[in-house]
Amino acid sequence: MFADNVEKVLISEKEIVDRCKELGAQISKDYEGKQPMIVGLLKGSVPFMAELIKYITVDCEIDFMAVSSYSGTESMGDVKIVKDLDCSIKGMDVLVVEDIVDTGKTLEKVKKMLYTKGANDVKIVSLLDKPDRRTVEIEAEYVGFTIPNEFVIGFGLDFNQKYRNLPYVGVLKEECYK
Ligand code: IMP
Repeated sequence: MFADNVEKVLISEKEIVDRCKELGAQISKDYEGKQPMIVGLLKGSVPFMAELIKYITVDCEIDFMAVSSYSGTESMGDVKIVKDLDCSIKGMDVLVVEDIVDTGKTLEKVKKMLYTKGANDVKIVSLLDKPDRRTVEIEAEYVGFTIPNEFVIGFGLDFNQKYRNLPYVGVLKEECYK
């Protein structure tokens, strides 16, 4: 069974849902009177974004963008747009939804791209943050959970495109990638 490759559950489904409620309430307060464009980074943000937006109570729009930079457990460094936004974000307050901030390279580039497209403001909400791995100066304004330097899967996060459908965040057994 594919879940046999999970070393341990790091964050349970209930903990994620509870945290999404808190983040949604905070975001709704901070964006009061604004109409943010919520941009999910495909594919990892999908389960988190689906849960989070239920608790955002201000008028908002959603869109998706896909960038590529990873292969297996290693960042390739080079960030490319694989699927661009459908909507214009000119003058809009953009909230980027990401699964994890690791080295920070992806979000640094995405943030620049969104400002180049005319965004008024770009903020980031990430389900997970691995600050020990950071190589560029970037922080998400909203973080679900800060985690240690371990390769995690589930709730959108993949290893070679698998395990995104796990309903929790778990640590992948080392033997799967060593
Ligand atoms: P960064 O550019 O190094 O911050 O990488 C961000 C992207 O790397 C995330 O959107 C994930 O797709 C991927 N990533 C980083 N760490 C992990 C992990 O522990 N598990 C699965 N994907 C990861």
